[in-house]
Amino acid sequence: EKGNYRHFMQKEIFEQPTVVAQTLRSYVRQIDQSVALPQMDFDLSKINRVTIVACGTSYYAGLVAKYWFEQFARLPVDIDVASEFRYRDPVLEPGGLSLFISQSGETADTLAALRHCKAAGQTIAVVVNVPTSSMAREADLLLPTHAGPEIGVASTKAFTCQLAVLAALAAHLAVKRGRMDRAEEADVVNHLIETPAALNAALGHDDEIAAMAHLIAPARDVLYLGRGPDYPLALEGALKLKEISYIHAEGYASGEMKHGPIALIDEAVPVIVLAPSGPLFEKTVSNMQEVRARGGKIVLISDADGLAEAGEGCLATIEMPKVHPLIAPLVYAVPVQLLAYHVACVKGTDVDQPRNLAKSVTVE
Ligand code: F6R
Repeated sequence: EKGNYRHFMQKEIFEQPTVVAQTLRSYVRQIDQSVALPQMDFDLSKINRVTIVACGTSYYAGLVAKYWFEQFARLPVDIDVASEFRYRDPVLEPGGLSLFISQSGETADTLAALRHCKAAGQTIAVVVNVPTSSMAREADLLLPTHAGPEIGVASTKAFTCQLAVLAALAAHLAVKRGRMDRAEEADVVNHLIETPAALNAALGHDDEIAAMAHLIAPARDVLYLGRGPDYPLALEGALKLKEISYIHAEGYASGEMKHGPIALIDEAVPVIVLAPSGPLFEKTVSNMQEVRARGGKIVLISDADGLAEAGEGCLATIEMPKVHPLIAPLVYAVPVQLLAYHVACVKGTDVDQPRNLAKSVTVE
């Protein structure tokens, strides 16, 4: 079943261009370049607030969506991990949409949070990969990802498919709320359609990342930095590395470094910076300088413009294609997945079945 791949995780990373394209086919209409959601029996334009709840990697997809829903649809978003959300007595007012994100559709805390929101009268939307799951059955609006079965315990293709659905949902909400006109919608759709090609370009750096993994594998701690919608990718990169290579890793918002974590920096701590070029790039470059001044070794993941500006003096660089900010989080997921994968291979850990972890967490 693994075909030519050594591990399911590796196979699933490489399936991403195909499964993201497959997922997007149900959410974008190429004929009129519009975003299309499944039929629903409520009016999305009446939604006044979104509450996003999930766990782990699915939660990070939700964090990216928060940036998108706010930026494109001007909708206020509250987000939390399910185990906190359930017990903190969240304020759930009429007109709210509660959005649950889950690969399995069975994660116990997320499912309990869904039932809590339903009982509180919220409209329930779910982004799930298993269409027969409990969450799928209990939703008012089912937004499936078409990633196919995910076998590797560390989530990869389910994550990028979640992001694809959430990007389409963000655009749809923006249209419904009068925040995006036809031309802008068509533009977003065209960028989404380019995603699989951009994912392929990112996957083209596999050998380079495999070589770089030898530089990272000896580290005891690794930091990941990102900003804006790419900040959750820093969290995701750190989670992937911890899960499968057992190296301690943390993700931080780039600008938050100087408020504490910079104390950790020395020659032994690699810092992986995820920074597409753009309006906030300069800010990240100054954060990189703060790291470098303390002897930190930087791996910069950026596009050609970003690397031309700030690639010099880095331990290593990885060049991503230059893409629309809406699809950057999907594309930048690839190098962080590959880096974690190859570091785990160097360390010889069990990539598909990491210690202490289960694919679906059905206990609270
Ligand atoms: C990370 C990972 C976990 C899951 C989390 C939620 O690689 O796999 O963090 O993302 O347990 O699972 P689902 O998405 O099935 O609710």
